[in-house]
Amino acid sequence: MDTEVLTIALLVLVPALLLWGIFLIRNRMARQPGALLGIPRAMRPGQPDATLEGPRLERVLVGGLVFTLTLAFFIPVYWLPEASRQAGFEERFSEESITRGRLIFQKAPALDEDADPVLFKEQEKEIALGMGCATCHGGVPDGVPREDWAGGGLVPEFQDPGTGGIVAYKAPPLQNVFTRWDEEIVRFTIERGRPGTPMPAWGVEYGGPMTSQMVDDVMAFLRTLPGNNEAPEISEDCQNPSKSQAKQCGEEIFAARCAVCHGPEGQGRESQPWYQGLALWKGDVRHLDKNLHRYTIINGRRFGFMPQFGEQPAQGIPAPPYPLTDKQIEAVMQYERGL
Ligand code: HEC
Ligand code: HEC
Repeated sequence: MDTEVLTIALLVLVPALLLWGIFLIRNRMARQPGALLGIPRAMRPGQPDATLEGPRLERVLVGGLVFTLTLAFFIPVYWLPEASRQAGFEERFSEESITRGRLIFQKAPALDEDADPVLFKEQEKEIALGMGCATCHGGVPDGVPREDWAGGGLVPEFQDPGTGGIVAYKAPPLQNVFTRWDEEIVRFTIERGRPGTPMPAWGVEYGGPMTSQMVDDVMAFLRTLPGNNEAPEISEDCQNPSKSQAKQCGEEIFAARCAVCHGPEGQGRESQPWYQGLALWKGDVRHLDKNLHRYTIINGRRFGFMPQFGEQPAQGIPAPPYPLTDKQIEAVMQYERGL
């Protein structure tokens, strides 16, 4: 027989036999006269009050007290560290999510046919998760973080569905995507892609390979990139630019916040940025009247993928993480209108 089965049988049987023995012996010793005559217990005379209310009652009461005290002690001991236990779980879950997100962002490694089974177990996860965002968006194909982390890169040989021509499309940098966009738009873009651009739909509801948990994971990972956690740099002077500073600050703010999409001088698609497929002005926004111009910057155009920059955008549009003040918007408008 299996030694394990034997051990378990012994562990169960030996104490059972022992207890049974003790029970039998005690029963025999406690034989009472009534039992000899075969009178059922229920018909024998009951014990007198003196016995019931004596030491036996005390034993029961002490037992109850000990049990209550144990319970009263156990509940706080269990409850007090509960908050930190839960926080610990939360932290562990988010760490695991970020680790998965990093694997999703990377390109899946090639399958090594001679891999030993233990190593393969590790690799299997990288192969199953690797969606290769890094191949277009830049980053760490080899798993080693570099300076240009997720800095965006060319997507060669993309056939523009509009013109049919082959264009070298640029994928935007993602290490600062959360300075432009809120969670909703980032999720929307990852799940549905951007039709007419090389950015495919990844969400499983839209025909892609990623479950919503994977989208959460890759977003959690992007969140950890340093640029996504700090305000875009704008000098002290231009935090609240006066009229005389407007010109110089407009240029600075445009470079820090707008050039990534509109090109350094507002050239739009001519500077070969991303957003090739979408309409961008070519250095002339004067066709917009000033109010429309201002509200475009404050509220963005959510479905044209122009982000909102106002401190208090219109109802229904979330406030941006790093808004521009009214004076900053005035300055950048002046700069744009002078281009
Ligand atoms: C994430 C990319 C992105 C960023 C960053 C961005 N824009 Fe835009 N912007 C767009 C897109 C795309 C459009 C075109 C929207 C459309 O199709 O209506 C646009 C349109 C505009 C328009 C309207 C142009 C017109 O002719 O109607 C203005 C004005 C504008 N942006 C100003 C700004 C300013 C000022 C900033 C920086 C503070 C900025 N944008 C930052 C993507 C961006
Ligand atoms: C085939 C190349 C390619 C791959 C692979 C790819 N992307 Fe993109 N992605 C793009 C391009 C190009 C754009 C810009 C589209 C546009 O012009 O609006 C983009 C845009 C985005 C944006 C919006 C950025 C912004 O500021 O508007 C996010 C977020 C994004 N991608 C995330 C991902 C994630 C996450 C993955 C992997 C699961 C991924 N991408 C894989 C090409 C790619």
